[in-house]
Amino acid sequence: MSTEVTAPAGVVIEDLHKSYGDNEVLKGISVTVNPGEVVCLIGASGSGKSTLLRCVNRLEDPNSGRITVGEFEATDPDVNLDAMRRQIGMVFQQFNLFPHLSVLENCTITPRRVLKQPKADAERGAMHQLELVGLDHLADRRPAQLSGGQQQRVAIARALTMKPSLMLFDEPTSALDPETVGDVLGIMRNLATAGMTMIVVTHEMGFAREVADRVVFMDQGVVVEEGPADEVIGSPSQPRTQDFLRRVLNPLGE
Ligand SMILES: Nc1ncnc2c1ncn2[C@@H]1O[C@H](COP(=O)(O)OP(=O)(O)OP(=O)(O)O)[C@@H](O)[C@H]1O
Ligand SMILES: [Mg+2]
Repeated sequence: MSTEVTAPAGVVIEDLHKSYGDNEVLKGISVTVNPGEVVCLIGASGSGKSTLLRCVNRLEDPNSGRITVGEFEATDPDVNLDAMRRQIGMVFQQFNLFPHLSVLENCTITPRRVLKQPKADAERGAMHQLELVGLDHLADRRPAQLSGGQQQRVAIARALTMKPSLMLFDEPTSALDPETVGDVLGIMRNLATAGMTMIVVTHEMGFAREVADRVVFMDQGVVVEEGPADEVIGSPSQPRTQDFLRRVLNPLGE
């Protein structure tokens, strides 16, 4: 049993600029993600990774540049933002589940409210996604009664109930206890194998090497290096990438 991905969307980001006041955070980013591709975004804190992801579904408005997501031109002022966002699932470091709703209700509320699915249909779809992440037996629990890893698996299941064509992950395992990280990464790997287009901000270099088609290294608002995971992580050509990887892979500098 696996997730069905019907129509993965490609993403094209061209010369994207974003400033907060005088602080130019994205300084002309261009990245293309083909339908069904997995791209891992790596880089030091403050390099603009989250800002870039948030521009893709227009949680942030870029100052200039162009983004397309499948058939949507995200940066067109007249784009149908609701329709576009229905195609994009986003998973955050801090799960963002509704604490007062059960696991099942967390997974049915958006299909019911946004897609107007009847309750029974929404529950069937949600239970299917919860089975895929191995949590159907906890459907009646509240988020606070789950481990962090379980909550993150619910957050992924919830995003998948909307049948997205693109998934954005912003450090989905950074807040987890080490022993629950593997379960979440395993689910993400299954989703990648099922053909989902994914942009994943992560510090999990093992995951990036195994699952990513390409790795993009950002520093101070620019793309410094991109290419196949084995090249960028295994034998980076740019000094800034080499320096970053040295620090991530060997934090004590020994
Ligand atoms: N809403 C905001 N208002 C003002 N400045 C912001 C805002 N969001 C981000 N910034 C600034 O933009 C820069 C890039 O932030 P961003 O969160 O995109 O980096 P990041 O690469 O995701 O870092 P981290 O690895 O710590 O999550 C930082 O200097 C940050 O302070
Ligand atoms: Mg971030």
